[in-house]
Amino acid sequence: MRAMQYRHFGGPDQIMAAEVPTPRPTATQLLVKVAGTSVNPVDWKLRRTQGLLYRPVPFPSIPGADISGKVVEVGGQVTRFKPGDRLFAMASVRFGAACAEYAVVEEQAAAQAPANLPLAEAAALPLAGLTALQSLRDLGGIAAGQHVLIGGAAGGVGHFAVQIAKHHGAHVTAVCSGKHAEFVRGLGADVVIDYTLRKELTVERPYDLVLDLIVRAPLRDFFAVMAPAGVVVSTLPTFSRVSTALLLPFVSRRRVRFTMVKARAADLDQLRMLCEAGKLRPVIDRTFALAELAAAHAYSQQGHAAGKILVTVK
Ligand SMILES: NC(=O)c1ccc[n+]([C@@H]2O[C@H](COP(=O)([O-])OP(=O)(O)OC[C@H]3O[C@@H](n4cnc5c(N)ncnc54)[C@H](OP(=O)(O)O)[C@@H]3O)[C@@H](O)[C@H]2O)c1
Repeated sequence: MRAMQYRHFGGPDQIMAAEVPTPRPTATQLLVKVAGTSVNPVDWKLRRTQGLLYRPVPFPSIPGADISGKVVEVGGQVTRFKPGDRLFAMASVRFGAACAEYAVVEEQAAAQAPANLPLAEAAALPLAGLTALQSLRDLGGIAAGQHVLIGGAAGGVGHFAVQIAKHHGAHVTAVCSGKHAEFVRGLGADVVIDYTLRKELTVERPYDLVLDLIVRAPLRDFFAVMAPAGVVVSTLPTFSRVSTALLLPFVSRRRVRFTMVKARAADLDQLRMLCEAGKLRPVIDRTFALAELAAAHAYSQQGHAAGKILVTVK
């Protein structure tokens, strides 16, 4: 089968097309004919080996954790899928191998794709959608009426987080550049802070929950605008943030929690239901063909996508 892979760490130019054997599913896995995948920052961070927390990938490495497509074959212990089903799934971040014509994924990391989305587009949902859902609901304990601040609101995770926070009845303040202000308002944000104009955070009422997707400011900037028992949820566990999180309980009721996204079928089902109910939609910033994966990585690395970067597999 055709796949995109790299054999050395480095820039997007390391990504090349290759003919590789089609993978075989184990007893708990599904073999999927891939319709779409999407680029997440972790894909190029792994390729660059940036960050001490990332374990190296094995070479040659086929990147990609997000998968949508049709089931071709099921392992002997699979119970929820049969050949022909439309699914979306989050494969392992290190071994995902979604950037190929076929991929295998664990049954417990897959769900039926939303019926109201083109199959390829369902690949925009898994990793970023699960991160937004698990961060707000499980770590943030989001509740109706809360004031929520989302830093990085226009990006892959952020644009889902705005919609999920609104679904939970929160009042949402989105932080993004001015050129994306209308975009995040269209997703439901009540207030927009343009970080290119205003360096300090503003507050009408203290924030109960801060979702921090872009580490730019020290945590004390958030604490200055937060409720006394407010929670910061961050997707980026930097050394200084982890240290602050450990020491904070001795001096404050505020809490800092870190997301490690988990591939859970029940949460994918939740995303599917929100989509089908019209409460959640992936916005595709740009679509690339599989052969253009290097360009898709380079675009993601610029860090200014509005919504998701989709890769379609014909
Ligand atoms: N720990 C985990 O489990 C986990 C899971 C998923 C993601 N992550 C991490 O979370 C981060 C966000 O992921 P993502 O997929 O949302 O990334 P992304 O799609 O690349 O985010 C791009 C967005 O960042 C915004 N941005 C850039 N600088 C900003 C700033 N100073 N203030 C506010 N917004 C800014 C851009 O908006 P403008 O163009 O308007 O500037 C753009 O819309 C990544 O570092 C990723 O690796 C971690």
